[in-house]
Amino acid sequence: MSSTGSYTPREFNLRGLKGISDETLDMHFKLYEGYVKETNKLTEKIAEFIKDKNVDQEEMPAYSELTRRLGFEYNGMVLHEYYFDNLQSGGGIGDPAQSSQFAKAAETSFGSYDVWKTDFVGIGKMRGVGWAICYQNPANGRLSNHWITLHETGNVAGFTPILVMDVWEHAFLLDYKPAERPKYIEAFFSNIAWDAVDERLKKITGVQSARA
Ligand SMILES: [Fe+2]
Repeated sequence: MSSTGSYTPREFNLRGLKGISDETLDMHFKLYEGYVKETNKLTEKIAEFIKDKNVDQEEMPAYSELTRRLGFEYNGMVLHEYYFDNLQSGGGIGDPAQSSQFAKAAETSFGSYDVWKTDFVGIGKMRGVGWAICYQNPANGRLSNHWITLHETGNVAGFTPILVMDVWEHAFLLDYKPAERPKYIEAFFSNIAWDAVDERLKKITGVQSARA
């Protein structure tokens, strides 16, 4: 965020992914920049409405629409940053090392990494426009996978995004046909930056909270 309170698009050093072309990335970075710009624009417009400390009846329809759109644009910005940050330039190793924090957390939460992956990939293949996201509950360290419609519907309040996969068609349309989303998901897995994913995990020790 800049000193004036607006967000500046981040630069991501991602090139040479396996199965996801640089052209796709360039287009995707442009789309991400659009979310940052719209977030800033909406925040400014909403500030205009509330600066007289009153939202009157005539203002309510426009104010409501802008506020609803803010949820869409804001989550679009944030989720893309998580997504690009959990990819690795030049490609990754595929599945994580068994000794990794993530593999251990998946085993604790799902019984095994493979069962976790079955769920995450299954969610990624769901029909619709959105995201597959693995979250951690900071209260007890458990992982759970979720489908997010568009950018804003289904995010779990207070949970930490650990692995974020964009399954909007724009994430792969230059490289695969719309019906080939499973191939894109396979490519996504071959580029995951598991070290970055591990860093997002909160190390949970001691007695688990019942708040789950
Ligand atoms: Fe996207």
